[in-house]
Amino acid sequence: MAARFSIDHMLTERPYWPYPRILAHRGGGLLAPENTLAALRYARNLGFEGVEFDVKLTADDVPVLFHDDTLDRTTDGNGPIADVLFDVVTQLDAGSWFANEFAGDPVPAFAAASALCKETGLWANVEIKPCPGRERETGRIVARMAKLLWSGATPLPLLSSFSTEALLAAQTEASDLPRALVCDEIPDDWEQALDQLDCVSLHVRFDRLNTNSVAAIQATRRGVLAYTVNDPLDAVDLIEMGVDALVTDQIDVIGPHFA
Ligand code: G3P
Ligand code: MG
Repeated sequence: MAARFSIDHMLTERPYWPYPRILAHRGGGLLAPENTLAALRYARNLGFEGVEFDVKLTADDVPVLFHDDTLDRTTDGNGPIADVLFDVVTQLDAGSWFANEFAGDPVPAFAAASALCKETGLWANVEIKPCPGRERETGRIVARMAKLLWSGATPLPLLSSFSTEALLAAQTEASDLPRALVCDEIPDDWEQALDQLDCVSLHVRFDRLNTNSVAAIQATRRGVLAYTVNDPLDAVDLIEMGVDALVTDQIDVIGPHFA
């Protein structure tokens, strides 16, 4: 009978995922304002060793931690972030919308988040989140900066994106930084896409995964990450399916040692 697993697979439990298994979503999940340094500190203080956060560009092409295309929901500013200069974006209050105790927490520069991660021993899944029409430059600039910021670090951050255009630009700019494709539904051409972008993992909406799809992805020697898993029963199911990693908002329930 043909061996099902490689030597690698026999030597380590998770040969395709040399990273923390439980990641705090947007830095601190539901317990701190998303994509802030306070969120990263919150997760680290809970014992998390890995976080996911989103990065996009200001009008003057500086990468910052931010999820939405507009400033309205998570800051006291408004309008598209792509139209606002870095010096203005970083003066905004990105904490008060969440809770008074975080009032004044700014939108952090990607460089500041990297420094905090390195200083505190947090591994980062950096989701490249381009504003519409800015896919290529966002992938290129975030990858270039990540390469400089984490130079010599082990493990390197994992750059992920829904945008294949951004990932292609990241690959061209910094081929040695690992990449992952993020998707809602697993696309029919997932294997071809992962091959073309030389991705180490596929990050899938948790309720679109099953045992067969997890096994099929891992059979191509790639990790499987499930997002965003907030019910511990779902987390247990996914772990039983064999997923390599979970991203969660419920960081006090699905904690760093959940799996
Ligand atoms: O990277 C996984 C997850 O964060 C993708 O969704 O919208 O929360 O960035 P979103
Ligand atoms: Mg994200």
